[in-house]
Amino acid sequence: MSVARSLLNIIYNRRTIRKFRPADIPEEILNMIVEAGQRAPSYYQAYSFILVSDKEKRKALEDICEAKYISNASAIIVICSDLNRVSKMFSYLTPNHILTSDEYPIEIIHSIFETGLATQNMIIAAEVLGFGTALLRCVLSEAERVAALLELPKGVIPIVLLCIGEKDEIPPKRPRWPLHIVFHKNKYREPNPYEIANYVEESSEMYDQEDHLIKYKGILMKYKDYLTMKVERTKDTEKNCEKLSKFLRKVGFKI
Ligand SMILES: Cc1cc2nc3c(=O)[nH]c(=O)nc-3n(C[C@H](O)[C@H](O)[C@H](O)COP(=O)(O)O)c2cc1C
Repeated sequence: MSVARSLLNIIYNRRTIRKFRPADIPEEILNMIVEAGQRAPSYYQAYSFILVSDKEKRKALEDICEAKYISNASAIIVICSDLNRVSKMFSYLTPNHILTSDEYPIEIIHSIFETGLATQNMIIAAEVLGFGTALLRCVLSEAERVAALLELPKGVIPIVLLCIGEKDEIPPKRPRWPLHIVFHKNKYREPNPYEIANYVEESSEMYDQEDHLIKYKGILMKYKDYLTMKVERTKDTEKNCEKLSKFLRKVGFKI
């Protein structure tokens, strides 16, 4: 098999792994994974990766994220967007730089985007090296607690937690929208109600067939009902959003 074909196979066959075999991961492997992240296209390299190896801090993160499977991951890395270092770099160039303004939406969006590109490179590098990965969004929803735990300065926000470890499961491939729905030609084509309904029903059915919620969350519930519950707008979701937005604005991410 050609190198190109085998890399494509790795991309097409990657699945999120949530069950890891307890094992150590050598530092050289972690360095290779992070270096792969750094090789992603970027404008300002506006990211920082924080390996959490300290036992107490790991336990604190597990509690914040309420995710048991983090404990078996060989390495957990908090992936942050970092405008702190970028700002210091700009200050070296000129005291009157764009990040001294009150609002800088382009830099914020770019920093988050390039953090995502680096993350995906790290995920693929881990796969190439034979490891599985899972992303957890809890570090963003609990950004204030994570920032305190990891002593993040103003300008640095946690985006996602990357768990890396030896795979202890082979889950099925998870659903995706059909290609023709996400891949538009020359202009945007609105998805019709039938296509939306079809995707929701079929993808939920796939998660039910995997026993996804029982396996990972211990909940006996239809995936579609779970999804509905997750996206419902409630007083609690509004309160949490407001609190998070306030914190993000305070640390310089006015989005
Ligand atoms: C930004 C981001 C945050 C995620 N957060 C979580 C999470 O908190 N918990 C979780 O189980 N999976 C999380 N995932 C993984 C997705 O659930 C997973 O990628 C999706 O179900 C598709 O499955 P697959 O990766 O196996 O194709 C996250 C993925 C992304 C991109």
